[in-house]
Amino acid sequence: MRIDIISVLPELMTGFFSASIIKRAVDKNAVEVHLHNLRDWSFNKHRQVDDEPYGGGAGMVMMVEPLDRCITDLKAKVQYDEVIYLTPEGVPLKQKIVNTLSLRQNLLLICGHYKGIDQRIRDMHVTMEISVGDYVLTGGELAACVLADAVIRLLPGVLNDEQSALTDSFQDDLLAPPIYTRPSDYKGFKVPEILLSGNDSKIDEWRYEKALEITKNKRPDLLQE
Ligand code: ADE
Repeated sequence: MRIDIISVLPELMTGFFSASIIKRAVDKNAVEVHLHNLRDWSFNKHRQVDDEPYGGGAGMVMMVEPLDRCITDLKAKVQYDEVIYLTPEGVPLKQKIVNTLSLRQNLLLICGHYKGIDQRIRDMHVTMEISVGDYVLTGGELAACVLADAVIRLLPGVLNDEQSALTDSFQDDLLAPPIYTRPSDYKGFKVPEILLSGNDSKIDEWRYEKALEITKNKRPDLLQE
């Protein structure tokens, strides 16, 4: 997979993509991540990428021309399966979307800043708009990292068996059951007997029931979807 990210603050993301499991995924060539500084496509000597909104109002708007030039240049080299704009107005990110995106070859992510991007970029280029939650971030960079992280960990070879994605919360619309490791008794807080029993089918049953119970208590909305 190849992920390109357009941003006015790419340096915010460099640390993220060069650490831990994501770094390993990059080192193993499971994913290529290319960060692009939008200012490199500004036609203006001040490297300006934002301007005042037509019709007035507070805040600045990311200009159509630098973004269009940048996206067009990238599209000349790479055929993107999706051009994704990270915005609070997008569809809420869910595991199902992540699963689908993890099967794509090339993704282009656009991070907004200020009040957002000129509508014409959405009309011309954007194929999908994604929100990482019902709150407003200062820019799309953290949202892009969230999306990229969730997608990259599903790519073949990225997680080892111990980190397997198959038993994650949300993978089957349920939250994960409780997990424990040694010791089996800590200050009187005991690991449930069943987990020490060695009876795999009973353990699976217990885990499923616990997952159901926890989901009912904490996120009943997940069971209604
Ligand atoms: N940019 C700013 N806030 C955002 C959010 N909640 N989701 C995605 N992109 C954003």
